[in-house]
Amino acid sequence: MAHSRDSLPAAAGKNLVLTGFMGTGKTAVGQNLARRLGRRFIDTDMLVEELTGLTVARVFELHGEPYFRQRESEAVEMLGSHPPGTLVVATGGGAVLSESNRSSLRRHGLVILLTASVQAIIRRTHSGAERPLLAGGRRQSETVAALLKVREPHYRDCDLAVDTTGKTPARTAAEIIELLNKSSWNQS
Ligand code: S3P
Repeated sequence: MAHSRDSLPAAAGKNLVLTGFMGTGKTAVGQNLARRLGRRFIDTDMLVEELTGLTVARVFELHGEPYFRQRESEAVEMLGSHPPGTLVVATGGGAVLSESNRSSLRRHGLVILLTASVQAIIRRTHSGAERPLLAGGRRQSETVAALLKVREPHYRDCDLAVDTTGKTPARTAAEIIELLNKSSWNQS
């Protein structure tokens, strides 16, 4: 069945940038949003994989996290080469750790934080095999809680926050469109 496209007047001219911890649904929600809005979807992890010719897990394994973060910052900078308002972007969960990434993301779009309960994050990230930071020996809930504590203030540097716990990506995407189009939305 053909679906009519959603419109997003409140965010015309602005990219939609999804931030948030691993397992909050950035990629699935971003793909859904892009489809609804007729925008291009870009995932910074996929850009890193294109830049390096390696999976994210292999980049961590062969070169370490600092190297990954440098490539991730290059990926964030590359977003600026697209016309504003044409993209939905999913960022890696640690992209907001860098001040320059944060200001670059704010410059290019509306930053939308996705959140989820620790239990939902653990359920969605399974074994953590594709996510090197969750693959260690510590109890996963402790690892997630410790990383969240450090990252929380950076995640809160956003235009909008949406909890995804117990929601499908389609429902979260619909909620984001509704929130952005609310007349009370501050477009400054
Ligand atoms: C990371 C999140 C991952 C990926 C890398 C590091 C992080 O992306 O960038 O494994 O530091 O939180 P997702 O958030 O898409 O899983």
